[in-house]
Amino acid sequence: MAALSVSQLSMSWMALLSYLDKSGLKNGLALLGFLWAANVSIKFAFNFLVGLRIHVLSQLTKRKDLALKYGGKWAVVTGASEGIGKAFACELARTGMNIVLMSRSTQKMEKVAEAIEKEFKVQTRIIQVDFGLQDVYANISSSLEGLEIGILVNNVGVMYDYPQYFLDVPDKKLYDLINVNMTSVIMMTRIVLPHMCKRKRGAIINMSSSAGLLPTPQIAAYAATKEFVDSFSRALAYEYSSQGVEVQSLRPFYIATAMTYGTKPNVFVPSPETYVKNALRTLELSTRNTGYWNHEIQALFLGFCPEWLWMWGGSILNQQIRRNVLKTRR
Ligand SMILES: NC(=O)c1ccc[n+]([C@@H]2O[C@H](COP(=O)([O-])OP(=O)(O)OC[C@H]3O[C@@H](n4cnc5c(N)ncnc54)[C@H](OP(=O)(O)O)[C@@H]3O)[C@@H](O)[C@H]2O)c1
Repeated sequence: MAALSVSQLSMSWMALLSYLDKSGLKNGLALLGFLWAANVSIKFAFNFLVGLRIHVLSQLTKRKDLALKYGGKWAVVTGASEGIGKAFACELARTGMNIVLMSRSTQKMEKVAEAIEKEFKVQTRIIQVDFGLQDVYANISSSLEGLEIGILVNNVGVMYDYPQYFLDVPDKKLYDLINVNMTSVIMMTRIVLPHMCKRKRGAIINMSSSAGLLPTPQIAAYAATKEFVDSFSRALAYEYSSQGVEVQSLRPFYIATAMTYGTKPNVFVPSPETYVKNALRTLELSTRNTGYWNHEIQALFLGFCPEWLWMWGGSILNQQIRRNVLKTRR
């Protein structure tokens, strides 16, 4: 019975091919296939060349005076006491900018500020704030009054304690995800942007994430907040480019910080310092990229990944991470 089906199938296949041949449809389908392959190849080549320009060629040029370019001596960095934010604060100070550090822990920020002032001979200020709260922006606004802010880095962000199904995530964490990851980006931008528009210069760097490239199971709410940041940044970049303000969305993969459960740096996972050195070079060249050459290559290939495969792979990876984290906590 099975043999008969196979032979029937192969006869039907032959009949279909001969029909396509006679009707001229075969050439039409071949043309469609060719156009599809050409479209994919052109997109791939284009993205590859763009990646080469923003991640490789940018490293070969002399670093610009960012304070001069963006019309303000001060840079404000949210979530600056550790991880990527601390690396941004140091790297911006290296270019000669004064730094406003913002996070919850005064003690950690004082240490960072002291190190920055000593090494880079610039001024620093500290604003202690919990972005989990919503009524903090009037205070922030008055603390920033009078400072010529050239660059704002909306870096602060929180993640699940470990990958979890949505109903297992505590309410407090969900509110933090909303307030820290999204409200802070909107409100800090609202405070700083009017002054940038007046001076017709400025840059806002927003930390999105590759987790928001596609929906990611078991960190669903986190991934959604990062997609929000990306979408907001892209629209804002369009709205304010004519007013001289650049808005950039950075969408990295893993970086070795506390957020990635103690992952050690390797060729795929840069340290925050390596990441930020690379990412800052992409400012003014690109309004949206991963911020790191290796992550750009990963994004290039993942651009062809169907959503079901991303979700399936993401689920397996996140399950493994949950097991590992829970094991180390036992
Ligand atoms: N690490 C990665 O692999 C990765 C990948 C993609 C995107 N990102 C994004 O990059 C950004 C930085 O991540 P990270 O890995 O550097 O994180 P991190 O190492 O956990 O550092 C987070 C920073 O935010 C501050 N912070 C946390 N909650 C806060 C709150 N409620 N109010 C004020 N400050 C708060 C922390 O300082 P205090 O504890 O002193 O408040 C710390 O300075 C985040 O937006 C994250 O989503 C990270």
